[in-house]
Amino acid sequence: MNNIFGRNITLTLFGESHGPEIGCVVDGLRPGLPVDEGAIAHQLDLRRPRGNIATARVEPDPFRIVSGVRQGRTTGTPLCILIPNRDVKIEDYVNLSDTPRPSHADYTGWVKYRGCADLRGGGHFSGRLTAPLSAAGAIFLAALAERGIRVGTHMTRCAGIADRSFGDLTVDLAYLDNAAFPVLDAARGQAMQSAILQAAQAGDSVGGVLETVIIGLPAGLGDPWFDTVEGLLSHALFSIPAVKGVEFGDGFALAELRGSAANDPFRWQNGQVVTETNHNGGINGGITNGMPLILRTAIKPTASIALPQKTVNLAAGTDAEIRIAGRHDPCIVPRARAAQDALTAFVILDLLCNTI
Ligand SMILES: Cc1cc2nc3c(=O)[nH]c(=O)nc-3n(C[C@H](O)[C@H](O)[C@H](O)COP(=O)(O)O)c2cc1C
Repeated sequence: MNNIFGRNITLTLFGESHGPEIGCVVDGLRPGLPVDEGAIAHQLDLRRPRGNIATARVEPDPFRIVSGVRQGRTTGTPLCILIPNRDVKIEDYVNLSDTPRPSHADYTGWVKYRGCADLRGGGHFSGRLTAPLSAAGAIFLAALAERGIRVGTHMTRCAGIADRSFGDLTVDLAYLDNAAFPVLDAARGQAMQSAILQAAQAGDSVGGVLETVIIGLPAGLGDPWFDTVEGLLSHALFSIPAVKGVEFGDGFALAELRGSAANDPFRWQNGQVVTETNHNGGINGGITNGMPLILRTAIKPTASIALPQKTVNLAAGTDAEIRIAGRHDPCIVPRARAAQDALTAFVILDLLCNTI
């Protein structure tokens, strides 16, 4: 069982949805990195449930940094952030203990941990754990910003509605930094929110696609085998609960193109090698080529829906039906953005340690 990720910098997430506290430990951060509690609060705010398109659980997330930071800078020793769980409603999960929610982690968690784990509210598998991850993300993002590297994510699709494509990346990323609902086109965002609400009113849920761009990356990060930039980022991003696909550049669409359309021609620009197009998403041979890195994650519709569903009763050994009463996000996509930014920044920061 392995709950530590990273090579030069390591990240551990701990806690359960209905336990007393959740948190993270980050080890290997160099001393002297800026730690701005306001920026941490901001990232937590971006993942907070909002309005009638998210869970009604109140998540104020008053975080505490209990080690690794002094006078607003990392000390270089392990950094630990704790967040208490508030507004826990255990009664919502009592009738689910023997009847796993289809497509949630209740069944696999029960098998793996031999019935010993606290799986209430999704337990350790819960999206709650993206709170300490998002908090740590503020530190990773600031460390990258110091080096002129910026990361940003928008909902490129949700409930079948597309956002506009990225345009001027510097402008769009600055806009997304403060966008509570992470879309580039407000009208399309409104349409997405209406579609999410409609699904929720029908007792159902929807999914979508999060697109991340990283600018300011140097060429040369990554390795050709195993520790490819795509491999490391995918490894991290598949940890986000509900992520079911990751692609880079034009991704699966590249498989339909001829080489003449898929290749990114090189040219010199101000003494730098650049590509005229970026179908490969800034990565060739597992190594960054200096162009913006582009990736997308496919996020499935929330597993917990109000409609009746078929399941099994693990105690009785019979087939069963459940109706899930608890508070759930009808769409996870907007809330997963802060976790995606955090893990993307973490992987890039870890890779940059190899270049110092
Ligand atoms: C921010 C966030 C919030 C989530 N909220 C819910 C939720 O309210 N209900 C639910 O069933 N799943 C929710 N999930 C997803 C589940 O945690 C996830 O589907 C589950 O752990 C199974 O993992 P898998 O979908 O990757 O197989 C959330 C995920 C994230 C990232």
